[in-house]
Amino acid sequence: MGPPGAGKGTQAHRLEQDFDLSNFATGGMLREEVKNGSEFGKLAKECLDRGDLVPDDLVTEMIRMRLTKPESTDGFILDGFPRTVVQADALNEILADQGRAITAVIDIEVPDEEVIRRLTGRRVCVKSGHSFHTEMDPPKHEDRCDLDGSRLVTREDDRIETVRRRLKTYREKTQPVISYYEDLGMLRKVDGLQEPETVHAHVRALIATMRYEEAV
Ligand code: AP5
Repeated sequence: MGPPGAGKGTQAHRLEQDFDLSNFATGGMLREEVKNGSEFGKLAKECLDRGDLVPDDLVTEMIRMRLTKPESTDGFILDGFPRTVVQADALNEILADQGRAITAVIDIEVPDEEVIRRLTGRRVCVKSGHSFHTEMDPPKHEDRCDLDGSRLVTREDDRIETVRRRLKTYREKTQPVISYYEDLGMLRKVDGLQEPETVHAHVRALIATMRYEEAV
């Protein structure tokens, strides 16, 4: 969990490698649908471009399909889901049907000014999806990816007015999910203003505690 630009994708990617688990990132899946030009993609594009959420039933179905496949049997990471209390309830039901449950919820905390700085400076490789930042992590050659030389672009929803809208949506729709997991005693908070390596170390330490709690 965490606001736009908190570093969810950055940390989820590291955990995916650490634990060799499937990583289901709803934002990335939706952008893939938009790229493919499917009917679902067309509807999703309107929501993404506005900074609004895609309807709960559509996103939940997308996750349900992933969680019923063998790739999730040994566990999984969710990045960007659940984003509403309706989605959190649906996730519980999907997992309960399989005799499973979520064991750990990590909330990466970052203030709005930092979100705006990170997202308005983010440039993404059209091919690999790798992110750069104009000030904090600039590419060696302007507008070209260091990894494969492909073009770097600004994500449509990283424009300042859309970032502000995403922050508003986050406060209204997603913060109640944070409280939901907090009330269940499952939420652990991490300071997302630290260097990515430090955030990663803290997330790892928290996960170790939660796995231990589960075992006892
Ligand atoms: P999504 O793609 O999930 O966007 P988001 O939550 O707004 O998250 P971002 O990808 O912008 O940021 P992040 O937290 O992953 O940070 P990142 O690691 O990239 O969703 C997009 C849209 O899809 C939504 O607006 C919605 O429309 C729709 N959607 C998705 N899920 C949905 C759902 N469940 N229901 C309904 N609709 C849904 O890092 C950001 C930048 O900061 C990068 O440049 C990175 O290099 C840098 N950075 C990362 N960590 C640090 C650090 N510690 N210090 C400094 N810089 C850092």
